[in-house]
Amino acid sequence: MSKPAANENSILIDRFGRRVDYLRISITDRCDFRCIYCMAENMTFLPRAQILTLEEIFTLASAFTGLGVSKIRVTGGEPLVRKGAVSLLRKLGGLPGLRNLVLTTNGSQLESTANALREAGVRRLNISLDTLQEDKFRQLTRVGDLQQVLRGIEAARRAGFERLKINAVILKNRNHQEVGDLLRFAVDRGLDISFIEEMPLGLVSAHDRAEAYYSSDAIKQDLEQQFTLLASPEQTGGPSRYYRVVGSDTRVGFISPHSNNFCATCNRVRLTVEGRLLLCLGNEHSVDLKRILRANPGDVQILRQAIVAAMRIKPERHEFDLREQPVILRHMNVTGG
Ligand code: GTP
Ligand code: 5AD
Ligand code: SF4
Repeated sequence: MSKPAANENSILIDRFGRRVDYLRISITDRCDFRCIYCMAENMTFLPRAQILTLEEIFTLASAFTGLGVSKIRVTGGEPLVRKGAVSLLRKLGGLPGLRNLVLTTNGSQLESTANALREAGVRRLNISLDTLQEDKFRQLTRVGDLQQVLRGIEAARRAGFERLKINAVILKNRNHQEVGDLLRFAVDRGLDISFIEEMPLGLVSAHDRAEAYYSSDAIKQDLEQQFTLLASPEQTGGPSRYYRVVGSDTRVGFISPHSNNFCATCNRVRLTVEGRLLLCLGNEHSVDLKRILRANPGDVQILRQAIVAAMRIKPERHEFDLREQPVILRHMNVTGG
């Protein structure tokens, strides 16, 4: 029998003892929306030569599953605007050791792709929806069409995913008045919903982030005027704190990077579409996996060693400060949420 290679049985553990078993892959920085908290109005997107091919993404993903990663979330930009996204998902779904393949989307393409995604093995979808009012939807996304997304959500419901979750980024005086309506929308359809505090990633132009801050506690208080929420110990491997809405199947999550730091239990790393392995959403520590991959074609062992070594530079926590200019200059569409 041949001797196993040095780190063949390794799993990923960082220097704070956190086990990393969740990879988020951004497969494009492009998007058909321009949400005001995510992008500046005029964005330049990456040239093709700079981004990973779908084959390269698959090779990198398989190096991670070989190191014990059991959950992959595909993100963007808007992942479904990349040609070949569904075939890539199908291939990812077949990776040995992968237990959970999930996708985050803005919902714009779901009407035509929901069935194919389900058949490809995607188990759950997170769909962004910040408002139920058409004019506000246009203001927040700059170009998006609410009805198109609502039709997408219906198509996803019919396609039989295990779970659908709505993501709503809440901004004071933009959509904070709608949190009750959004929860009602979710409850009526048996969906989960997460309310998210805005994070200062990249420079944005349309609003002042400190003024737009609306805390998870304030949202929860507003919701409790209409609903009874029961704290729940559930974890999906994400940063949400969950509550059950009494009398329904719906779970409400709060993603509170400012008011409740969740870094101590962080289990994830991110792969950007440029092939950069980001060790933390709120820090710049990264490893250029694209360079290693292109310099050593076919050598999975070198990739694995680089990924294992990267665990030594995973930062302890993020340090977001809404009053300062953002320290992190990448926009969310590059990072992948
Ligand atoms: P689950 O896998 O279902 O728990 O999904 P999720 O809620 O982690 O993922 P999703 O892509 O829906 O992202 C929702 C929000 O959570 C986005 O605004 C993400 O940027 C934010 N988020 C996800 N992971 C992290 C993290 O590690 N740190 C911080 N600060 N925010 C995160
Ligand atoms: N802060 C918090 N959430 C954000 N998202 C995009 N930009 C930001 C930001 N600056 C959300 C999107 C989507 C998820 C992937 O990230 O609304 O639901
Ligand atoms: Fe596109 Fe999502 Fe960014 Fe909105 S938040 S611009 S939908 S990537």
